[in-house]
Amino acid sequence: MVLCASLNAPVLAQDDRSVIASPDGRLSAEFWSENGLPRYRVLYDGEDVISASSLGLRFVVAGSLDRDLEIVGESRASQDLTWELPWGERRVVRDHHNELLVSYRHEEEAERGFDIRVRVFDEGLGFRYEVPVPGGEHRAIVDEVTSFAMPQQATTWWTQAADYNRYEYITRTTPLIDVETAHTPFTARLPDGGVHVAIHEAALVDYSGMRLDQQREGVLTAELAPGPDGVAVHKDGDFITPWRTIQVAEDAVGLINSDLILNLNEPNVLGDVSWVEPGKYVGIWWGMHIGTMSWGSGPIHGATTENAIEYLDFAADNGFSGVLVEGWNIGWDGDWFSNGALFSFTQPYPDFDIEAVTDHARERGVRLIGHHETSGHLTNYENQMEDAFALYERLGVTQVKTGYVADAGDLIRLDEQGEERREWHYGQYAVNHHIRVLETAARHHISINAHEPVKDTGLRRTYPNWISREGARGQEFNAWGVPPNPPEHISMLAFTRMLAGPMDFTPGIFNLTFSGPDSPNRVQTTLAKQLALYVVIYSPIQMAADLPENYAINPDAFQFIRDVPTDWENSVALQGEVGDFVVTARQERGGTDWFLGAVTDEEARTLSVPLDFLESGRRYRADIYSDGEGAHWHDDPYPVSIEHREVNAQDVLELDLAAGGGTAIRFAALDG
Ligand code: NOJ
Ligand code: CA
Repeated sequence: MVLCASLNAPVLAQDDRSVIASPDGRLSAEFWSENGLPRYRVLYDGEDVISASSLGLRFVVAGSLDRDLEIVGESRASQDLTWELPWGERRVVRDHHNELLVSYRHEEEAERGFDIRVRVFDEGLGFRYEVPVPGGEHRAIVDEVTSFAMPQQATTWWTQAADYNRYEYITRTTPLIDVETAHTPFTARLPDGGVHVAIHEAALVDYSGMRLDQQREGVLTAELAPGPDGVAVHKDGDFITPWRTIQVAEDAVGLINSDLILNLNEPNVLGDVSWVEPGKYVGIWWGMHIGTMSWGSGPIHGATTENAIEYLDFAADNGFSGVLVEGWNIGWDGDWFSNGALFSFTQPYPDFDIEAVTDHARERGVRLIGHHETSGHLTNYENQMEDAFALYERLGVTQVKTGYVADAGDLIRLDEQGEERREWHYGQYAVNHHIRVLETAARHHISINAHEPVKDTGLRRTYPNWISREGARGQEFNAWGVPPNPPEHISMLAFTRMLAGPMDFTPGIFNLTFSGPDSPNRVQTTLAKQLALYVVIYSPIQMAADLPENYAINPDAFQFIRDVPTDWENSVALQGEVGDFVVTARQERGGTDWFLGAVTDEEARTLSVPLDFLESGRRYRADIYSDGEGAHWHDDPYPVSIEHREVNAQDVLELDLAAGGGTAIRFAALDG
């Protein structure tokens, strides 16, 4: 087949197909109409990655766009430029792609149809629907028929969607044929040759999130979360959909080393975002999860003035920038999971003197990190958020963690008549809610770290105050999850959830057996692996999640958490296999130091890591924190060996990772 590798090349039509290739020519996409049905296909090195699959949108009333469509025109463009992230895994991002716009129109009604805009990068592609709606009429989308056909024997890694939990499931490994309804990012390895593919979406705005449903064997179909009226998306006039993204790489780490999702988002709309501050934080948090403190008032209330001051001092003494305090506001008493309407976001409990706490924070040069648990009551939060952010702004708070604890599909909003409506965490209403929160927070110079959020689709580019989020099983599951996160959890997240963007996982538990070694609830990693998480899991804000007293016991290992930055000049995933292990290196933003994190699953392994990512000609002191003698996540998670030695870019390090273990390294530049 002839591919069009340069945009100056003539438009090629084969069997009336519109074809577009990546700048390096290895990845291509074809669009055509088969008896009126719009179709596409994706090839890598001439082999199918996505075989012939459908396109289209269905509306409640007539006018659906899924049949009797023909291609009536196309246009092309290309781009090769760089842009900067105010904070991120790297400073400079390259956007190098070829673009094709294919116009499908109804065979008889020429004004009815859609355009597909596809952008093909070397590491994947994205396409979206652009739908002209003459006369600005209303459209109610019930179904998107976009599908993704792949070989049934592909190995896939996924979490279930459309179930009671939101995104917090253990990642499953199955052949494609066993996939039910899955969330994205959805990761797969094709049967021959090991090509890796990840399906997701970019720029999810004013639309409903896409789940993948296997309606026919080997064919995943987009399924849009419905609103309470059964309609997935309401639109007035012309509209565009989010980008449907397909990352393609010859190996697993190639999926991580890609900026495709960010490149498909719109640039920053907030202007000066110098007030968005990456950093490390501690918090009155883990105590509630392991049951030694409470969110609600009473004898073990965590959010007291006294506790907050102790945490602020600990933060200031150890170089942290913030202290999260949960349970500070009225509303936690009783069944807070179900009482979202009772939360006040401006009224502290009497034993939490918020003015005294923030005065102390100011004196010590650290900040209180705010907390808004909504328990999924969107309207109660929306009614108060302006005042709530204004209060925090006055008190010097620049970051707020939000929370949407409620079963999936059970977010509450009150409609214009005051009637209660139930929404999905990833339905159109919730998608727009998050953006309203971001915009309101931005006016008060506040960044948002959302828990139980909608999935990340790269909107941090457009709204750089969307500083992190949860959206997968975090550390908290080790406190009370049934079962807790398995040893392979991080090696899964790195190649699935993390492809979407930063995660507030909250690493750094040092007392791994907080309920005793025989309790099912313990952290299923070694201590050294907890350190490695600060590099492997990307987030511009990272918590040191354990209680301060547990760090006091092990100051030598704690030194790594004190040293590791959270904002990077560059990042590279060096080695890894989905669900097995991953090795990541990152260079400090604006600095010369490099950091490396390596984690393994339940298998011990020795990894040989060339240090060729270091600047050549420079000498570095490597501070190596590895699993010590006899370390094993279950039998003895605590031994950490700390070694210092001089290295340079020519060296190769042998890393010995224990079962459930990891290695964390700081490379401190010695000269220059
Ligand atoms: C769930 C969040 O993930 C967790 O971090 C928080 O402590 C609780 N909700 C309470 O808001
Ligand atoms: Ca959670």
